[in-house]
Amino acid sequence: MPYHVYMETFGCQMNEYDTELVRTLLKQSGFAITQEQQRADVVLLNTCAVREHAHSRVYGHLAEFRAIKRQRPLVVGVLGCMAQNLKKELLDTQPVIDVLVGPDAYRRLPELLTQALLHQEKGLAVDLSEYETYESIVPDRTPGVNAWIAVMRGCDNFCTFCVVPYTRGRERSRDPHSILDEARSLADQGYKQITLLGQNVNSYRYENWDFAKLLVAVADIPGISRVRFTSPHPKDFPPALLEAVAWHPRICRHIHLPVQAGSDRILALMGRQYTKRDYLTLVEDIRRRGADIALSTDIICGFCSETEEEFQETYRLVEEVQFQSAFIFKYSERKHTIAARKYADDVPDAVKTDRVMRLVELQKSIALAKNQTRIGQSVEVLVEGNAKKSDQQWMGHTEENITVVWEKHGTICAPGDLVTIRVEDASPSTLFGTWLPE
Ligand code: SAH
Ligand code: SF4
Ligand code: F3S
Repeated sequence: MPYHVYMETFGCQMNEYDTELVRTLLKQSGFAITQEQQRADVVLLNTCAVREHAHSRVYGHLAEFRAIKRQRPLVVGVLGCMAQNLKKELLDTQPVIDVLVGPDAYRRLPELLTQALLHQEKGLAVDLSEYETYESIVPDRTPGVNAWIAVMRGCDNFCTFCVVPYTRGRERSRDPHSILDEARSLADQGYKQITLLGQNVNSYRYENWDFAKLLVAVADIPGISRVRFTSPHPKDFPPALLEAVAWHPRICRHIHLPVQAGSDRILALMGRQYTKRDYLTLVEDIRRRGADIALSTDIICGFCSETEEEFQETYRLVEEVQFQSAFIFKYSERKHTIAARKYADDVPDAVKTDRVMRLVELQKSIALAKNQTRIGQSVEVLVEGNAKKSDQQWMGHTEENITVVWEKHGTICAPGDLVTIRVEDASPSTLFGTWLPE
């Protein structure tokens, strides 16, 4: 009987992708994957460290595993960014953990789990690598419409608030030929949408390949309907990349452009390498090439020493740019980061919360107004599966990454199809429509 492994994933798409890599590595070593925690000999948490909230969720699960371990044998493994950031400290303070493995050391996981299962030995593998890209490992993907490909790993930007350069190590890019082989094989297997992933995806560079060249080459593969990429940094948008998004019919007209803050003093403290003016110029550049290219962003409220006036600069920037969507976070001090070492986390929690709420309200009203202008229009949607709330409805996204929902009854569509939907109603996050026959 093989040992059964149950896995849960937290954090970003890169972690989801890494979970697929880990599944492959485990299966190759004779482990079986189970969706039922009760059956598992091993439970693995692939963790995130980007905000404290991500940590808290993991501690909650560890408490549960402690209770199970009193009843029966169970090997508990913690993988990912929290493992990498806290390392031995996590192992020492949480005796429930048997194995701790960081994002560059997954090849060692099967061996460490075997030691833990057979000899009750604790295992720790948190070496970061300058080369590891798991290039030869084919991820064990969930069948469907969407697939991710990690094209680069790590980050060299060291934004002062961010833990990622410490948990994911130095930037390194994968050989484009292996990426294109993987994309072709995904097209052959029937995947329709590919998302190119990297912590800093547009810094991709391999010999004479840059990110724009790679993106176009992937989008040119027959059988793929849509290509997306995340997460880019605003500093790496050469004209060729903007043009590719503007003209290539299969590169989605959507750019995620994390701004983080609208005040130059805060941007400098964050180490973002651009000013508000640079950012707005880039937005203009994008819109000149395609007024309909949707923009989304990430924002942090209440970074060290941020004043009310500085927050209002962020607020005004959001009003000015009119993002399609925004992820808005409270600043959360992270161990080892430059900000944790150099600046005081001095904005009271209640003030951070209040700023987040004000921005969320603003963004909701912007998104609602944008979505309402689409009522009566037809949009092209990639059918992805059942709607979250009802299996009587289909769900998909527009190129701009807006969720669209419509009744299945009387429609002829299947996941993977590109269909035309007439928009009848809109909320800040979703368009509701009816299917139009070809
Ligand atoms: N590499 C990507 C994403 C990094 S993490 C990028 O540069 O855009 C995703 C988002 O989490 C960031 O854009 C930032 O808005 C947020 N984030 C990162 N560290 C944070 C922290 N310490 N506190 C609050 N939000 C944070
Ligand atoms: Fe973090 Fe900045 Fe790197 Fe993004 S670019 S992962 S925010 S350090
Ligand atoms: Fe979290 Fe690591 Fe991703 S910190 S956001 S899982 S890169």
